[in-house]
Amino acid sequence: MISYSKKRAIRLISPHVENLIRKHTKFKFNLSTIRSESKNDVELFTALGIETSCDDTAVGIIRSDRNILGEAIKLQQEIHEPKGGVVPTLAMVYHQTFLPQVVKSALDNARLDVVRDIDVIAVTRGPGLAPCLSVGLNAAKTLAIVLGKPLIGVHHMEAHALTARLTNPELKFPFLVLLISGGHTLILLAHGINKYTQLATTLDDAIGEAFDKTARLLGLPWLKGRNGGPGAALEKFAAAGDPNRYQIPIPMTKEKRTKENPNMSFSGLKTSINILLEKENLDLRDFQVKRDVAAAFQATAIRHLSDKLNLAFDWCKERDLALNGLVASGGAASNKAIRTSLEKLAHDKYNIELICPPPHLCTDNGLMIAWAGIERYRVGLIDDYTINHIPKWPIEELGTISTASSSTKY
Ligand code: KG4
Ligand code: ZN
Repeated sequence: MISYSKKRAIRLISPHVENLIRKHTKFKFNLSTIRSESKNDVELFTALGIETSCDDTAVGIIRSDRNILGEAIKLQQEIHEPKGGVVPTLAMVYHQTFLPQVVKSALDNARLDVVRDIDVIAVTRGPGLAPCLSVGLNAAKTLAIVLGKPLIGVHHMEAHALTARLTNPELKFPFLVLLISGGHTLILLAHGINKYTQLATTLDDAIGEAFDKTARLLGLPWLKGRNGGPGAALEKFAAAGDPNRYQIPIPMTKEKRTKENPNMSFSGLKTSINILLEKENLDLRDFQVKRDVAAAFQATAIRHLSDKLNLAFDWCKERDLALNGLVASGGAASNKAIRTSLEKLAHDKYNIELICPPPHLCTDNGLMIAWAGIERYRVGLIDDYTINHIPKWPIEELGTISTASSSTKY
């Protein structure tokens, strides 16, 4: 069991946070005595991360030396599957119901005491579903202010990107990032913590959304459990299908290829599947037909991704950027076919390493928020206890949002 003294928690606090804590609480410790202890001690600290941006209530606890201490997650699949997708108000109610228990389970699982052992409270501040974000944020703000701990508001997509530095300690900036989730499809250049250039986004649906809609169109039951859901169900069907039996047009190939704008589009894929089903009069009661359609969809989505990634690599090459790797993260990066094709592209074509966290760290989880909290805390990015959620939050704006509540945007 890892135990920390209360002193250690306070020892880690920067003057900025010290001021915040003094402003909001009756501060009880003698900071100058505490800070004089050894440097090694100061470097180790523990963060608790809370994630409630969509439908999973997740909490993770991690130490700054990458030691994963514990986590807990409450899935809501059985609530949303009958509705055909995530219902934000229902998700909020379930976050409200279960978050306290999930926090407690993560602490129990890590055998840690929140007062004594947790040094930093991190939480997803955005982007995400507004009612859901506010549940996690209010819990985190309350915990942090009452316990006198620093609060770190985390950008959900930055957390997905930084997970690669949790699993691969040697990964240095700059690197290229492909973030593929239910709400985003982004190609980013990661310059450093809080500093990203967006090279591409989707003009309409996110890739995960396209997987989800196509799974619904094919009437696939969601895969149950962690790393489950409609996208994972489609992957499973596609694995036993023939991707060449049906031809689906790759999106945006007729448009002018431009390195300045390698944007993507996934909404047309679902339409193409609809047209295919009607034109060929396909019988979806035939499981092999379903598998082959699923495989054709997945292969086309992957070709579209690869096509645009090539443009992004060209963009970096033209600027002589020495990339230290290609990171792929977000829920859809848990897809084995996507991982395999990205690996091939990165290795064979660009002689660069693909860093893709294991599937349970690609889909939403509390550890990624805790880790992002650690990374941000280390460079002094600490937030005020009055911050609000930011449901729509372009990652490029990260560096421009202040840590105080006054900058909150809706
Ligand atoms: O990152 P994530 O867990 O939550 C968001 O931030 O959106 O991503 C969830 C998305 C969903 O659309 C889900 O269907 C998709 O990722 N996804 C997958 C797979 N697992 C999850 N898509 C394709 N293949 C998978 N194996
Ligand atoms: Zn996510």
